[in-house]
Parts: sequence; structure tokens; C-alpha cells
Amino acid sequence: MKRNLPAYFLLVLLFSVPLSAQNFEKISIVPQPAKLELTKGAFAFDGGTKILIEQNDETVKLANLLAGTIKNLSGLQIQITNSAEGDPKNSVRIIIDPAIQNTEEYYLSIKPDAITIKSNTGAGIFYALQTLFQLFPVELKNELTVPCLEIKDSPRFKWRGVHLDVCRHFFPVEFVKKYIDVLAMYKMNTFHWHLTEDQGWRIEIKKYPKLTEVGAWRKEADGKLYGGFYTQDQVREIVGYAKEKYITVVPEIEMPGHSLAALAAYPELSCTGGPFEVGNLWGVIEDVYCAGNDNTFEFLQNVLTEVMDLFPSEYIHIGGDEVPKTRWENCEKCQARIQNENLKDEHELQSYFIQRIENFINSKGKKIIGWDEILEGGLAPNAAVMSWRGTEGGIAAAKMHHNVVMSPGTHCYFDHYQALSGEPKAIGGYTTLEKVYSYEPVPDVLNNEEAKYIMGAQANMWTEYIETTNHVEYMLLPRMCALSEVVWSPKESRNINDFVQRMTHQYDLLASKNFNFRIPTPFAESGEYLITDSEEIALNSPVKNSKIFYTLDGSEPTVNSTLYTKPLLFSEDELLKAKTFLANGRTSTTSSIAITLIDTTENGLYYKYFTGEWDSIPNFWELRPETKGRVHKISLGEVKHADDNFGLDLYGFIEIEDDGEYTFYVASDDGANLYIDNKIVVNHDGTHAATEKSGKVYLDSGRYPFKIFYFERGGGQDLKVEYEGPGINKKQIPANKLFFDNY
Ligand code: ACM
Ligand code: ZN
Repeated sequence: MKRNLPAYFLLVLLFSVPLSAQNFEKISIVPQPAKLELTKGAFAFDGGTKILIEQNDETVKLANLLAGTIKNLSGLQIQITNSAEGDPKNSVRIIIDPAIQNTEEYYLSIKPDAITIKSNTGAGIFYALQTLFQLFPVELKNELTVPCLEIKDSPRFKWRGVHLDVCRHFFPVEFVKKYIDVLAMYKMNTFHWHLTEDQGWRIEIKKYPKLTEVGAWRKEADGKLYGGFYTQDQVREIVGYAKEKYITVVPEIEMPGHSLAALAAYPELSCTGGPFEVGNLWGVIEDVYCAGNDNTFEFLQNVLTEVMDLFPSEYIHIGGDEVPKTRWENCEKCQARIQNENLKDEHELQSYFIQRIENFINSKGKKIIGWDEILEGGLAPNAAVMSWRGTEGGIAAAKMHHNVVMSPGTHCYFDHYQALSGEPKAIGGYTTLEKVYSYEPVPDVLNNEEAKYIMGAQANMWTEYIETTNHVEYMLLPRMCALSEVVWSPKESRNINDFVQRMTHQYDLLASKNFNFRIPTPFAESGEYLITDSEEIALNSPVKNSKIFYTLDGSEPTVNSTLYTKPLLFSEDELLKAKTFLANGRTSTTSSIAITLIDTTENGLYYKYFTGEWDSIPNFWELRPETKGRVHKISLGEVKHADDNFGLDLYGFIEIEDDGEYTFYVASDDGANLYIDNKIVVNHDGTHAATEKSGKVYLDSGRYPFKIFYFERGGGQDLKVEYEGPGINKKQIPANKLFFDNY
């Protein structure tokens, strides 16, 4: 609230809605604070607002960050004063309070006449400021005000990580800083910098200049040289930049595998002696450091000495993943090492390798962290494990009382697709925003004591298929916002619908800061949809001031297509294509929705559902069904069923439009038989895994009795029926070609 209000304004206030949180848009902080209580009123910044601090280097820096942000947004020049002298009215008071227990914890109190920020560390003050900045409007229309509230906040996990592979593709210093900026906005505190790979060595090492002279450059298939590296000065600059944002940079120096670039520079460190070229194909490469050669360890120790000098982090990531053992099996030196060290096999040799490196790193007062393969052959005594091949490695390590960072491919690999279609080429996988949000880093199987070893979670950004900075941002955002809430907010406060709503403000904020992000499509997933003529298709965009345009003629929507204004009804089958257009011209990918109209009283097949254990299809007609009903697609999706040991009898009629030969395909696990006109067309009976069988039949146009018997016996379950024929490419039988009109 502005001070020196004229009396008439106060009167107006009394008789109108009080200036309070209701006048603000929804409070949209990501990650959601642990405790947030809205109170009455607002604080307005004006020319007289002061920042009060107990002066030291850190508080001055933080106060400058606040003053600078306010200046950029509003033009207001806020004074910074020593708190001992300052009048607390109309101030933002920043207090380092040693009585607060947890590092990173902060308080943010906004009252009509003052804002108070408290923490026992600069990090906590920094997070309070990030929260405050999210309360600022993205664009200022009038005066700068923030709603009154009380926040007490602290993170759930201490490792809130995001990784970046700068080896498969190289990104400039300025971009690495921008990446760090967005991590900091969402209170992530660990930047895992993947610096060495088969396809490029990216960090200057003074003692081994060929690592970057040779190892930083690869010859692409087209003959062009690709590469780059960071000088030690640049590394220091980035580490320092991250530190200002309370982000620890954890360097990764890969060993013993993923090291072809280093071997191209120093082939004598391999088992075969080379020669090698820096990799230009993705995948796992068999040439790794020789574990039998003491020079390998001398080299790595010298490299790590320079690395530890550059990075103040507690942990050094030593890789350890995907190490083929072929070269070691055929290397005299490696075999001699196995003998002399009494090792059982090459897995124990890998363990020997990691433990020897761990000893060295521990001797310098630091710790190692490695991918979960470092468990194989015995975990190094003090190592932390980064669990990426699912969660098993993390669980095993936590049970052994080793620290763990969870980063399973299923939820944390941001090189995966964000939707099923329309996305830029990715390495594979399918990891939606919702899926990331649903991630729970502490596995159920851990007891409370073991759960303490889960330090947090991390997103991994591998860049085989990500060549540009714009694309990195696209893969990172908004998924990292979801992960920030997973690692920061209390488990019980997480709510996907609320998160999606709060993201509307974040999209605005990200766009204003020039970040690229995946713009949510107007329809969650492209695909085939069966609807009735009274069902509406609703499109929406969570991004403010965006518009949706759509087409029905199969063409890509443009701003000249039809503007979406209200939910759509259909009277015939259509292909709907829709796209979100932001005010700044950026667009989402296209939602492509094939609509098939069905008559719910006629279309589809009748089903009977049975439970029982069979090895082949039983006489269903002699059995009592547990449930009955209608399915529109021939699949298990519409039938509520057990995990194991059940059967289905599906029947009705199929409509054939054109005379000709038809092929029917039955993919099932376990048995399924298909009958047309009461004659068997596909016999795929018996217990078996998911496999497909087909049968051909000549049919004149018309309607035929159609029947499928299916059973499932233990293990997997699957049922899909497709057909092809005159004018029909192999596809599932549409619901409006199947009929059953009385129950
Ligand atoms: C990994 O994704 N290879 C750790
Ligand atoms: Zn060897």
C-alpha cells in the first residue's frame, strides 16, 4: 500500500474490496513453498523504500540483486542502508539470523509497511529473493506491489541437480551461464557438468594440452571439424558465476569408459595402443582406459588434481557407466592386474579402478560420485551413487548406507520425448511434464534410516540429439520446473493441477526472460479419439495471451486458420489440427486429433469378462461372466480386468465396405482366436508372449458376425486386432465399423 494516501482514498478502501491478495492473480510460486499464508493488504515499493542490511560482502551483493531487479522492472532506485540506522517503515529488511537451524531455510514476511527476509545463510536469502521475484508482475503496468503473506520455506532435499552434456554437443560460456540462471530461478542448487566423453574432451588441462588440441575436435561424417572446449579461466568464471547463485558445479570426468577423446590424444593409455579418432557416432565404445597400466592412474590423478583445483565442490563425478570389458579381457596388463590384485574378474577390475581413484580423491579431502555401474564388483567405500538405470542401484547403495542421487531414466532423463508425436527428434523414451512431476525420489522399500541417504534427485540432459541452445532450453523447460517441486516442496503439498495452474505465470516469466520452452499443446496427446456427436473437444493453453488456431482439412494451422473460441462439436469424422500461438510469435507443436464419431447405442462389441486359469481358450459360453458391457476398441483398455488369469469373449458384427481379400492380425498375450461369420480366421490360441498372427479371408461388402475369444494366464497381457483390405492400410478396426445394438 502506498503511504501518504489521500483521505478520500482511504474511504474508498473501506467501502470497496480491501487491497489484498484478491487483487492479485493467483500466487504462483514454483517450487511451491513449504508454508505459505496469505494475509491482508499489500506492500508497495516507491522511491522512499529502503533495503536494510547488516553490511557485509554477501548481504551487500544480495541487496544489490534486489535493488537491481526492482530498478529493471520499475525504474525505482532503492537505497541500501545499514539496518542499525534505518527506519523499518517502508523497508525490505534482510536479516542473517544464526538462530535459524537449517541452512537454505528462509522466512519471507510481507506486511503493508515492511518486508522482512530472514535466513541463517546467504543461500536462504537468495531463495527468499527468488520467491519475491516470482511475486512481481512480469510486466509492470502501475506501481510495483506485492501481496502480503508469510512464508516459511526450506527444501526437502539437499541435492537438487541438473546435468548438461557439453560433449556430444558443445555450448558456449554465455549459454552455460543462462542455464545456471534458470536453475537458480527454481532453487536448483547443483549443476552437474559432463565435461569428457568419447565424442569430445571439453576442459583445458594444462599438463595434457593434447586433451583439448586433439580431444576437443571430432571429424563429422561430412568431413567437417566439430568441437570446442572451456579454458581454465572460463571454467573459473562459470564456477564463480554459479556460486553467486548458490549453485555448486560438480564436474564429471568420465572413467574408465566414455573416454575415446582422451585416448585419441594419448593412445598409450588404452589397452591396444590405438591409434584412435575422437568419436563421431553415438553409443558405447569398447576402447577404454587400460586398468593394468599405472600410467593411466598417474594421468587421471594429474587431471583430477587440476580439476579439483578449479572446482570447490565436495563431490567429483567420475562417471563409471557403460564400461565394456572386451579390451580388458584381451589385455596382458589388465589380466596381470587381475592376478596381482587377486581380483575375480573384469567387474572387480572396474571396482579396483574406481576405488584407486576414490583413494586419491579422498586423500585431497573430496568425495566421488559415480553412475550406478560403480556398484558392480563392489562399491568404493565412500562413494555416492547416481542411480540412472532405474532406482535399483540407488536402493542398493542406500541400503549399504551410501549417499544416493536419484536420476532414473523413466522420470529424470530430459533427453526423452515430451509427447508422443510432433516433437523434435529425441533419443527415445517418453517423459512428460506430468511424469516428472509424479516422481518420488525416496523408494518405498527403504526404511527411514536408509531413506536419509537419498540426497535428492537430478535431471540429466544428454545432447546426442540436441544441437542448439534453443533446443536444450526446450528439453529443460518446463520439465525442470516440475522437478524443482519434486526436490524442494513437501511431498504432501504436491498437486499436479495446482502446479499446472501456477505454471501459467512461469511461462510468462520464462518468455519475458527469453527462455525457450515447450509450449503445451492445445490437446494433451495427439491420436485417435472416439466420440459421440454430443461430445465436445475442448482445446486450451495455459499460456497467457496465447491464441489457438485450428484446421479441419489436414493442413498445418497458421494465424490465418480458424481461431478457437469455444469447445468444438462434430457431426462427421474429422482430422482436427490445432496449435498454440504465443504473443511473441512462438508456437507449440501441432495437436493432431483423428475424430471418429460413434453411436454409443450401436457401435462397438459386446463383451463378457471371466476370471479363471486356462492354458487354452475355454468354452466361454458355458461359464458365468463376472462383468459384461460394451467396448469400442478391441483392446483391454476399456475392460476393468485383473492383473492375471482372466478371459474375454467379445462379439457383435463387423461392417465390410468393399468386396475383396482382407487380412486380420491378432496380437495377443496369451491366446486369442478370431472368427468371422462363425468361421475361424486367426488361430492364436495357447499360452504365449505378445506375438502376432494373421489370417486372410475373402469378404463381400456387408455385415458379418464377428467374435474374439481371449485369455490371459500369468505374466504379460495384451490384445490388439488390426485389419487391412481394399482401400484400408493395416490399422485397428474403427469402432464405427463394429456393431452391437442390443444388450
Ligand atoms: C548414462 O546415461 N549413461 C549415465
Ligand atoms: Zn589394459
